[in-house]
Amino acid sequence: MKRHNIQLNEAGELHHFLDVEGLKRELLVNILDAAESFTSVKAQQVKKVPLLRGKAIVNLFFEPSTRTRNTFELAAKRLSADTLNVNISTSATSKGETLLDMLNNLEAMHCDMFVVRHAQSGAAHFIAQHVAPHISVINAGDGSHAHPTQAMLDMFTIRRHKGAFADLKVAIVGDILHSRVARSQIHALTTLGVTEVRVIGPKTLIPDDTASLGVHIYHDIWEGLRDVDVVIMLRLQKERMSGALLPSEHEYFKLYGLSPEKLAIAKPDAIVMHPGPINRGVEISSEVADGPQSVILEQVSNGIAVRMAVMSILMGQTFGKEKGASE
Ligand code: CP
Repeated sequence: MKRHNIQLNEAGELHHFLDVEGLKRELLVNILDAAESFTSVKAQQVKKVPLLRGKAIVNLFFEPSTRTRNTFELAAKRLSADTLNVNISTSATSKGETLLDMLNNLEAMHCDMFVVRHAQSGAAHFIAQHVAPHISVINAGDGSHAHPTQAMLDMFTIRRHKGAFADLKVAIVGDILHSRVARSQIHALTTLGVTEVRVIGPKTLIPDDTASLGVHIYHDIWEGLRDVDVVIMLRLQKERMSGALLPSEHEYFKLYGLSPEKLAIAKPDAIVMHPGPINRGVEISSEVADGPQSVILEQVSNGIAVRMAVMSILMGQTFGKEKGASE
């Protein structure tokens, strides 16, 4: 029997956004097209549309964040929603209140959506299973499991630069083992029909089951970057590492850090991406991070339109009739 995807309602529409895995290409393209229509909002004199007026959106960040939290808040405000940023360290959870009791109290305040970041894999899924049926939950990063809106803003950035996904070669470099971003990117890239997804890194930072995701694995970056269209660099997630998985940061940069010399192996018009935060001199040199092929800050800007798209789709609202680049 086919397992019900908790993210979808009975009509097959997105109700929660917890994971890219298991979602159809059509749903992902729908998010990208909706995001395309929202890019014009930032150019308006009043950078707002009334789509989510009267809705209350709660940011629940149990882990630090700069990009995700602030772009979610801006996106919600540009949709005219009311926003609440729960300060976890000063909330009553510090007095022993359970997560579910906290959620029940926020529900009693008539909230409509929870945006959740948590160090525990599966946290957003757990919350989605326990909230009232009218509430939507968005996973803003759970442990090393998934970061679906990051993956979608990365897909949006790739599509804006490269057009169609077919024929692209995309390399993801670094700490795949601890990366929720890499996992979501791989599912998004393969669902959207990218020809070749390469994963590059030391054996200790690539999980054993990675090949089963349909990617090609390289341990030599000079081989792996050959002729790729897109290079996605990842941070070493030291906060999730236990034991000695690496020689030293200096050695890591020599072997896997993206320098202008290594980037020259990729196609001349290859774009360089990074979900952030970047660690200069560890996984990427400043020359590359600030160089002409870098689209790292563009990814951050695109995060607003993509998060507006996801929130409005979950709330059943659509904006304009415009469609983005054709697939
Ligand atoms: N990319 C990303 O998730 O960054 P933050 O941790 O700053 O949100």
